[in-house]
Amino acid sequence: MYKISPTVQGEKVHFKAPDPVFYEAIGEEGMRKLMYDFYDIIYESDIAHFFPQDREEFDEVKVRNSKFFIQLCGGPKVYEEETRGVELNQYMVRLHDDFSIYEKSRLEWLGAMREALKKVDIAQHLKDDFWNYIESFSKLTVNTTVDGSKYYQDL
Ligand code: HEM
Repeated sequence: MYKISPTVQGEKVHFKAPDPVFYEAIGEEGMRKLMYDFYDIIYESDIAHFFPQDREEFDEVKVRNSKFFIQLCGGPKVYEEETRGVELNQYMVRLHDDFSIYEKSRLEWLGAMREALKKVDIAQHLKDDFWNYIESFSKLTVNTTVDGSKYYQDL
């Protein structure tokens, strides 16, 4: 089952990109489908307000997000130009600084991913490996405490 451990402010987050075998199994099209399904769920979720309300802008986020995951998981480097020379993980954490992300937002985000993963027809242990990456990396996107004060996470 997909476990979730709580984010602890100031605690070092250890994460590992998904095994390349995950990408080999899901493929580029499968990856895009997973991310589009994920964003369809996000659009209806409690964290929809974080994302552009304009459908076209929302679709652009979807496209860039898919490119990121394709690259991260070992596919072609289709996201590279977005990072403008900044290391990929560093870039991704800093990109989220612009939003006030609570632990609750992370749980909602992970819940949407859990739903979307149900439709992916590959071996469960590969989905688990992908889950381990998002479960841990998502802790680095949390940057707001329950009282609303903001902090910045270091990798
Ligand atoms: C494993 C964790 C996560 C990863 C890998 C991730 C990845 C991404 C990527 C690739 C993008 C698109 C970047 C681009 O525009 O070039 C993005 C955008 C975004 N993500 Fe995340 N994300 C994660 C967790 C979260 C969580 C927990 C939230 C909570 C709300 C969140 C909120 C957002 C928002 C608001 C945007 C930008 C939308 C906009 O451009 O207006 N993300 N994320």
